[in-house]
Amino acid sequence: MPVITCIDDLKRLHGRHTPKMFYDYAESGSYTEQTFRENTTDFAQIRLRQKVAVDMSGRSTATQMIGQPVTMPVALAPVGMTGMQRADGEIKAARAAEKFGVPFTLSTMSICSIEDVAQHTTKPFWFQLYVMKDEDFVDRIIERAKKANCSALVLTLDLQILGQRHKDLKNGLSAPPKLTLPTLVNLATKWAWGLEMLGTPRRFFGNIVGHAKGVGDASSLMSWTAEQFDPQLDWSKIARIRDQWGGKLILKGILDEDDARMAADFGADAIIVSNHGGRQLDGALSAIRMLPRIVAAVGDRIEVHMDSGIRSGQDVLKALALGAHSTYIGRAYIHGLGAMGEAGVTQALEVIRKELDITMALCGERDVKALGRHNLLLPKGFLDAYE
Ligand code: GLV
Repeated sequence: MPVITCIDDLKRLHGRHTPKMFYDYAESGSYTEQTFRENTTDFAQIRLRQKVAVDMSGRSTATQMIGQPVTMPVALAPVGMTGMQRADGEIKAARAAEKFGVPFTLSTMSICSIEDVAQHTTKPFWFQLYVMKDEDFVDRIIERAKKANCSALVLTLDLQILGQRHKDLKNGLSAPPKLTLPTLVNLATKWAWGLEMLGTPRRFFGNIVGHAKGVGDASSLMSWTAEQFDPQLDWSKIARIRDQWGGKLILKGILDEDDARMAADFGADAIIVSNHGGRQLDGALSAIRMLPRIVAAVGDRIEVHMDSGIRSGQDVLKALALGAHSTYIGRAYIHGLGAMGEAGVTQALEVIRKELDITMALCGERDVKALGRHNLLLPKGFLDAYE
């Protein structure tokens, strides 16, 4: 068993275990990947302020997200096709999150269905919704999430049309994979993945195959989004969904102060400052650079969460110190899942928790809720480099 010390270790194992088409799906951004890259390089520019001779005993990373207790302010973000990284991937990730005490968010574009994940877990998880043109489908999936006892709806606002990811087109991404010659050649080196996959019936988009009509190729994420997702999504449609759901609502994909003000006026429980992991509008600024502006605009009125670029507990600390109430990881746990299944997701969470805890101590902090701008050193002009 290799010694895992950081998320990069899990990433390497993920690449070895999982077919190229799914690894690439996770590890890419849209177009030139500028935003995808800057999500992480901008974190690296932020430096930490060391403090000594401060009592560092009795530290705590525990807090709440939308009123729900969490062992650290790091939720598992919705990730499409998680069940293709590993057989039954969403169930494995949800179980790891539940045991660890952090929220798991199930994507609309998951392989395991809402009902399946509910059946294999004991605590409520969160459900992420993509709004489709077919209103009946939307009504039914909201009812399904309620019936499964989901404790928050995460409504994604930044993907009504898909930002092009070159690798997915070149790899012929689909779930399950189509057995073309290049795919077969690659699968021949991934036999452990294939054996697990043959042992599960969960190989299709479980929330939508058999529930939604009118899609040309039911195995293609590109076809689903192009043919089904509602390009007319606006605030009036969001209000309809809020009213029908009636529970905790988190609006995901906010990267602009005016949109954040709209969301706060609207009465959501939280927003997620996000550029979808650099997978949508290439050329947008990194989420960590936009975060302080959005916190300044609405941080006193709504919980401001953030994702996009977090690969370590140090990144979590930096986001919290810049005003995020809490954070999400996507790729960081997907690397764990691809590397070692449920145990790998647990490892990813453990790595991040330890990094957060030790970094807090070395910054002279004992409580994750006390982190702030005073813990950071920023390059001159970092906060207003772009107007
Ligand atoms: C969403 O499903 C994505 O691929 O980013």
